[in-house]
Amino acid sequence: MKVDGTPYRTIWLGADGTTVQAIDQTLLPHRFVVRDLRTMEDAEVAIRTMIVRGAPLIGAAAAYGMALAMAADPSDAMLERAYRLLLDSRPTAVNLRWALDDLRALLAPLPPARRREAAYRRAAEICDEDAEICRRIGENGLGLIRRLTPRDKGGRLNALTHCNAGWLATVDWGTALAPIYQAHNAGIPIHVWVDETRPRNQGASLTAWELSKHGVPHTVIADNAGGHLMQHDQVDFVITGTDRTTRGGDVCNKIGTYLKALAAHDNGVPFYVGLPYPTIDWTIVDGVREIPIEERSAREVSHMTGRTEDGELATVHVLPEGSNAANPGFDVTPARLVTALITERGVCDASEAGLLSLYPEQSRAA
Ligand code: MRU
Repeated sequence: MKVDGTPYRTIWLGADGTTVQAIDQTLLPHRFVVRDLRTMEDAEVAIRTMIVRGAPLIGAAAAYGMALAMAADPSDAMLERAYRLLLDSRPTAVNLRWALDDLRALLAPLPPARRREAAYRRAAEICDEDAEICRRIGENGLGLIRRLTPRDKGGRLNALTHCNAGWLATVDWGTALAPIYQAHNAGIPIHVWVDETRPRNQGASLTAWELSKHGVPHTVIADNAGGHLMQHDQVDFVITGTDRTTRGGDVCNKIGTYLKALAAHDNGVPFYVGLPYPTIDWTIVDGVREIPIEERSAREVSHMTGRTEDGELATVHVLPEGSNAANPGFDVTPARLVTALITERGVCDASEAGLLSLYPEQSRAA
């Protein structure tokens, strides 16, 4: 995607062939800064502190983290250390484990002298694959969007999305936002309600920023506004990404997604989820019981950061002194509330049968 006319991905290999570069998402929308990741520890910190975030991008960053580790020391001991360190950086998005398993399976049988080059090559491939997968999710989602009839008398389609599942959450295009970009590019009049997505405000800070850069009409709303808008025919479909989808079709995504799915169900509004295959966890069925939910710092709830009128960034405390805060980062939307899953291979029901119809090679892996 372009930022002020310049094409960008979220992560890429620097000109020296070793350093990895990534857009610092903790500073958006106020500042556009590119960070250098020079060591596997830099990659781990970038994932843990959400300089890079979003399930597919976390996987790509972990792959480059393995490459940085191999550049420093291609020994077996380092391979294992890097795997463990990076795996522990965030718990919920399964793309992290997918990428690390992929890199370890590739590198472990190789002689150490060949690991560095192989790791960088595979990390770059994972990035290219992710961009292509997301482009195809966009095309498949566009097919669904074309079949919708706007409820709004003005004739525009209204989507609602939660968190950020656009190009910033992936390498390029996004998952939930890819169909929206494709629809906008195809000349379909589309407007997006953007949930602000407290406590970290990925909707207000990131989704609104990237939709603005691409010229997609959108309106940021408080997280609790969606149900009201649905009751008044202001939402034609909800579309989100996911951090882990079980083989049974349960969808884990940013906290608050479940409430949007309930409201959509109650109002007969389709609830779509865009996802690439590395987000499917074929080892589990019951998302509510089995997916580890990240518990993040209470400070993300008790404090907010923004830009003052002088253009400076400032952090303010928004709770009374002494009040406790809790911050579960994700929730699980049961498959029964999901209208369809949109993948790079096509659209399916949110069920084991639906997923296996697109990924028959997984039918043996129960
Ligand atoms: O905590 P984050 O910002 O990493 O959470 C991101 C999300 O929940 C996204 O919706 C999800 O990763 C899907 S990304 C294409």
